[in-house]
Amino acid sequence: KQKAFIFDLDGVIVDTAKYHYLAWQKIAAQLGIDFTHEHNELLKGVSRVRSLEIILGLGNIEASQEDKDKWLVEKNEDYLGYIINMKEDEILEGVVPVLDFLKENSQLIALGSASKNARPILEKVNILHYFDAIVDGNDVTNAKPDPEVFVRAAQLLDKTAQDSIVFEDSVAGIQAANIANMVSVGIGHKDILNEARFNFNDFTEIDNNFLKTLVNE
Ligand code: BG6
Ligand code: MG
Repeated sequence: KQKAFIFDLDGVIVDTAKYHYLAWQKIAAQLGIDFTHEHNELLKGVSRVRSLEIILGLGNIEASQEDKDKWLVEKNEDYLGYIINMKEDEILEGVVPVLDFLKENSQLIALGSASKNARPILEKVNILHYFDAIVDGNDVTNAKPDPEVFVRAAQLLDKTAQDSIVFEDSVAGIQAANIANMVSVGIGHKDILNEARFNFNDFTEIDNNFLKTLVNE
């Protein structure tokens, strides 16, 4: 059988959550808002615009559209400064063997990410060629937990939801996969991603037998 394997990017393929955090922290500091690692969990899988809204909410700050636009640009420029230096060694452990196994077994691979920086990151870490389809923050209007990003990816690969498997590190992303009726695989803490059908701490825990089961299910 041939299935669609759809991967989130940030926190699943690469550990870019730390860069998003550093860039948002600068904006928050400017505004006198205390922005902790715990707060950062709220931003995972969430769009750039929505992330700023959440941060402003933490500080009870109301701002003009002009100011918000300025901070969004600033945040992204800062973030780009971090990702410009990314290399293959920033791919999370265990990801490449999984991608290789899927390719060797004629499975389809897609990206389903909220990020508008997804393509340049895949290029930087040199794994763009694995992807049969890419759906990112430039292609969708509805953010996770809306399933749009994954539905579009499955459509591009000409696969049904039943034949689609989603790997996600965010609660919103797992919810999106579940709403779409796709198989959801949580990558991260099981207690946070408790709505996922399957849970793993990271890709080193995913073996070929599990992948074969998904293919033949
Ligand atoms: C998601 C990240 O993948 O992409 C979020 O989990 C981020 O933290 C979002 O805000 C949007 O990313 P970008 O690169 O378009 O600002
Ligand atoms: Mg993510």
